[in-house]
Amino acid sequence: MSTTLDITASDDLGVPAARRRSAELERSIRERPGRFRALTGDRPTGRLHLGHYFGSLHNRVRLQNLGVDMMVLVADYQVLTDRDVADRLAEHVEDLVLDYLAVGLDPARATIFTHSAIPALNQLLLPFLSLVSVAELGRNPTVKDEIAHSRQSAVSGLMFTYPVHQAADILFCKAGLVPVGQDQLPHLEVARTVARRFNNRYGTPGGLVFPEPEALLSDAPLLLGTDGGKMSKSRGNAIALAATADETARLIRGAKTDADRHIAYDPVARPEVSSLVLLAALCLGRDPHEVAAEIGGRGAAALKATVTDAVNGYFAPIRSRRAELARDRAHIRGVLRDGNERAAAIADATLVEVRTAMNALYY
Ligand code: TRP
Repeated sequence: MSTTLDITASDDLGVPAARRRSAELERSIRERPGRFRALTGDRPTGRLHLGHYFGSLHNRVRLQNLGVDMMVLVADYQVLTDRDVADRLAEHVEDLVLDYLAVGLDPARATIFTHSAIPALNQLLLPFLSLVSVAELGRNPTVKDEIAHSRQSAVSGLMFTYPVHQAADILFCKAGLVPVGQDQLPHLEVARTVARRFNNRYGTPGGLVFPEPEALLSDAPLLLGTDGGKMSKSRGNAIALAATADETARLIRGAKTDADRHIAYDPVARPEVSSLVLLAALCLGRDPHEVAAEIGGRGAAALKATVTDAVNGYFAPIRSRRAELARDRAHIRGVLRDGNERAAAIADATLVEVRTAMNALYY
């Protein structure tokens, strides 16, 4: 057993290597999509926004449509990492499922589930915790960052251990692919380490229990919030997927720009203007340089009008589907019930394998 392996030593989180590997994986996926199971998910803390859409939701739908077996997790227990109470949890879970369905995740092909409802997934946490050291948990850069930004006075045990729970989220279904952003790479390393150590400790040569999951980083463009900061639910600078056309117009009208009247796409020198250009370009399926050139000297007002029309045009069908789905709450509950049943069956089978490997199945 390699207990001394430092799972989070690298300062750059191994991003360049993960990017190269992701490009290779993309090629294999295109060749044989049916070989892959991918798992990813979100904390239910409110409605998803355009940053989520272009950063990850769009990619999930793409993978699903290619034929990858998609597991989509509503990480409800994980909401409790940086707050004492998961506020309006049922409402947020429902909103998340609505967002998923509205953007095109299809419950007939993708398994949408809440991890709190999967007993065997949660039970994996116990043996998994025995495979990592307290020192390793303390070194996780994403956890450190979350602790630094947490408004809680004390760090809970869950904050410290949730990356191991996240390993259970991934390993219970033996997902080989985890489409995530860079901030999640340390957590993926935990999952890989847990898989490797479990196999080393309990596996037989021909019978490895867990595959080592791999990150699938998308080359998702970064959209800024309307104040020029990172787009985030909690900063109040996000345009929700479910926003109305009027709200969208108002938010974009108030977005920060800069003093240069000539519109250009230059993300480094002019981040706010460029993020607006990019948003329009993504919605129009066009090149951002071209979109900027067309607006040229007509200034920020013309840019904002273009962005508003582009966003409202692109999201109109998604928003109307969402509104329609929202009228049928029994359907949403049914989607979750089915997804949870499917996930539970997978988790039960994995737990039997785990307990068998551990010699802990007694009758
Ligand atoms: N940590 C992820 C987030 O904050 C959510 C998540 C929970 C997740 N479990 C996961 C993502 C497993 C990928 C795989 O958004």
